[in-house]
Amino acid sequence: MINNHGVSLTEKPQINLGLEGVYFMESKICKVDGKAGKLYYYGYDIGELAAASNFEEISYLLLYGELPTTKQMKDFSSALAEERNLDDRVINLIKGVPQETNPMHTLSAAMDLIGAYDKSAENTSDNESTSIRIISKIASVVAAIGSIRSSGKYTNPDPKLGHTANFLYMLNGEPKPKEVVKLADTMFLLHAEHSSNASTFSGIVTISTLSDIYSAVVSAINTLKGSLHGGADEAALKMIMSGVGKDPDKYIDGIISSGNRIMGFGHRVYKTYDPRAVIIKEQLKAAIRNTDDRVKKIADTAFMIEEAAIKRTGQKGIWPNVDFFSGPVYSYIGIEPELFTPVFALSRAPGWCSHIVEYLKNNRLIRPTVYYTGETGRPYKEINGR
Ligand code: SDX
Repeated sequence: MINNHGVSLTEKPQINLGLEGVYFMESKICKVDGKAGKLYYYGYDIGELAAASNFEEISYLLLYGELPTTKQMKDFSSALAEERNLDDRVINLIKGVPQETNPMHTLSAAMDLIGAYDKSAENTSDNESTSIRIISKIASVVAAIGSIRSSGKYTNPDPKLGHTANFLYMLNGEPKPKEVVKLADTMFLLHAEHSSNASTFSGIVTISTLSDIYSAVVSAINTLKGSLHGGADEAALKMIMSGVGKDPDKYIDGIISSGNRIMGFGHRVYKTYDPRAVIIKEQLKAAIRNTDDRVKKIADTAFMIEEAAIKRTGQKGIWPNVDFFSGPVYSYIGIEPELFTPVFALSRAPGWCSHIVEYLKNNRLIRPTVYYTGETGRPYKEINGR
């Protein structure tokens, strides 16, 4: 049945805004248990992995579905180390963008350029080795962006260092103490994978058209940028910093009454404390025991704001997520706020690549349906008759 605007009056279908609760694929890679506040990479609990594993090892796990043997780990680490160098064309692109460019745009452009001259990019049967190249190079690119923005200088990678140690070396132009490397490595591990979050979904949509893995990763990078997703880490630190010295209860009431979101709080899936935030909070507490006052003041403010916020939003299922304490930890490591989301991107690269490789094994073009509420059959009128 049609009304006089040509709109169908048949039963309106269920519309899932934001595809909330819609299952669009099967996967073995990651389970996010939003009720229990649990997270698993290929069945391994994130708490166990954070305590016992490292970023290189879980990158292998995410790509191959199994923890590596000693030989497999050695070969994988060497493969990552071999791919760290950046072509001059990429370094010149990073040097060439205006200083005020958002680093996520620079990261997206740089990864697209690397894909443009990677001859294996279009060969989807080679996606596992291309994934290793992407995981390695995205870290070098983020380090180069940070180093060139702060000092104008690019530092060549050190093949003797591990993935995370090399990232910090390229970023700072000098090696960082091993406990700082370990903290950064744990942060990268915790951010590595999270099932069908917006950026991963965006990469899957891109690969479902049989585009290439670089294009899919660039889609994911551009999606992660938003403040409702990966951009929340920088926004949460800004919120915490402007709360320093203020009464936390009044501060949070002000945010809520102005209709703004508490950045780093809430989640589409977790309706309890994000298990990653639990670990990051503990890491932050341990780190500030021997740190300078500046970071300690930020951390103490974060703890007070967290407590005030949970009092108001906890019973509504709105709790700290992975982004809330990440900023203070990255500040302790010496990473600048504008580099937080690019660091999230380098951490998530194994998760993006693992889903791209897995989805292609049972590919189906992603093309959802829209419930049309417009008209049909409108008569065309010449311009002078309108
Ligand atoms: C990440 O999906 C993933 O897995 C993402 C991620 C990953 O690892 O990939 O975990 C990483 O992106 C974490 C989320 C980072 N974003 C933020 O911290 C931004 C602030 N949080 C929100 O904007 C919000 O919580 C979302 C976007 C994360 C989730 O929002 P939903 O599921 O779309 O829920 P909603 O916006 O419909 O909110 C439902 C209710 C609303 O209240 P009512 O209008 O019904 O009265 O909850 C309220 C919202 O106002 N609410 C918040 C809030 N988040 C939700 N109120 C205050 N502060 C918040 N942060």
